[in-house]
Amino acid sequence: MSGHGHAIPMTARRGRPLKGRAEVPGDKSISHRSLILGALAVGRTEVTGLLEGQDVLDTAAAMRAFGATVTQVAPGHWTVEGVGVGGFAEPKDVIDCGNSGTGVRLIMGCMATSPISATFTGDASLRKRPMGRVTDPLALFGARAYGRQGGRLPMTVVGAGDATGVRYTVPMPSAQVKSAVLLAGLNARGQTVVIEKEPTRDHSERMLRGFGAEVAAEDGPEGRIITLTGQPELKPQRVAVPRDPSSAAFPVCAALLVEGSDILVPGVSQNPTRNGLYTTLVEMGADIAFENPREEGGEPVADLRVRFTGALKGIAVPQERAASMIDEYPVLSVVAACATGTTVMRGVKELRVKESDRIDAMARGLEACGVRVEEDEDTLIVHGMGADGVPGGATCATHIDHRIAMSFLVLGLAAKKPVSVDDGSPIATSFPVFEGLMAGLGADISRVAG
Ligand code: S3P
Repeated sequence: MSGHGHAIPMTARRGRPLKGRAEVPGDKSISHRSLILGALAVGRTEVTGLLEGQDVLDTAAAMRAFGATVTQVAPGHWTVEGVGVGGFAEPKDVIDCGNSGTGVRLIMGCMATSPISATFTGDASLRKRPMGRVTDPLALFGARAYGRQGGRLPMTVVGAGDATGVRYTVPMPSAQVKSAVLLAGLNARGQTVVIEKEPTRDHSERMLRGFGAEVAAEDGPEGRIITLTGQPELKPQRVAVPRDPSSAAFPVCAALLVEGSDILVPGVSQNPTRNGLYTTLVEMGADIAFENPREEGGEPVADLRVRFTGALKGIAVPQERAASMIDEYPVLSVVAACATGTTVMRGVKELRVKESDRIDAMARGLEACGVRVEEDEDTLIVHGMGADGVPGGATCATHIDHRIAMSFLVLGLAAKKPVSVDDGSPIATSFPVFEGLMAGLGADISRVAG
């Protein structure tokens, strides 16, 4: 939902070692897609392990507004009665996607080739984010978009009546843009071809195939070429959502930084388009065992056994890894602050158009906590202070960004003095059980101002 409720100031302080089992919620990307593809299938899709964060609840409400029946059967267990490709009804009211860039961009894609109009809005963070990256390729199908200056929400999208498939090279590494074009291609005649120069998360391709669409992917000189055959009948599925590696990152990094910690995070997706953080942490010297690797819900998963690692060292993160860990740079920069040596993160300018400008948000907060950082448009460099070296003792601004809030709270568990955030309420968008889960591990995180 748009608007922003009461700010919830929070403070994290050093305390006991973290111990126990951390069952993190379902993957946010897969949760959005299971509701959207369920709505586009003919019949009843069953989803288990759905993330019940506000972002996904907003997508559920949007799918209802387009005519699907979306029902919670039990916690995490949902059903979607789909209306079929091309079966969307025109919403009677504005679609409010709250804080979710993924929600709004994917939904714009899947309605853009139906003869209906929809008006989209979101919270103050989402209304600042660029939508042109999605509406530009949707215009190739014949859809028109009328938004605020700079392609910002609120925005009305007028869908194209009788669209034909397009060929589009995505100019930035963005799974949201790729997915919006593929979803628009579903109701277009013929083939839609999307080319991405750098591979990004491939959940849309995997899940579209799972729902019965014909999707081919091959690597060519231009990059990855994804070809979707339009106007399939999507078949309802049972989707078992694996646990979110981007949410797991917070307890994992906390355990690496809090002396004496030893935790197990079971069933975390290890999809290679998502696991760059874990590769990076191991390169920094982290003690993470990937136990019991297996396949669940069509995704590779493993149980992560994570132990405190006092001697992490800074590294240069390979630029080509950026897309596979794009949401994890904020918490990586916290780990980098507690490592020895310098961590260099290049090729990360996409961070500037996330829920907040994450390079700026992390740089300012880390500096306030006594950490030296350098940045330019596309780079963040953190000068590590060692396992017991970060002074802390500041209140960091979260800018309506869940991952910024959780990252600074992780820092507070390791820093010499407590670290506070001005507003932890956005955590509910992606990780509604964060506080209880961290408390269960023994972390001292409370709803008090610094
Ligand atoms: C997502 C894609 C990424 C990521 C976001 C989820 C998705 O965004 O940051 O949290 O589910 O497709 P971009 O496409 O903007 O890189």
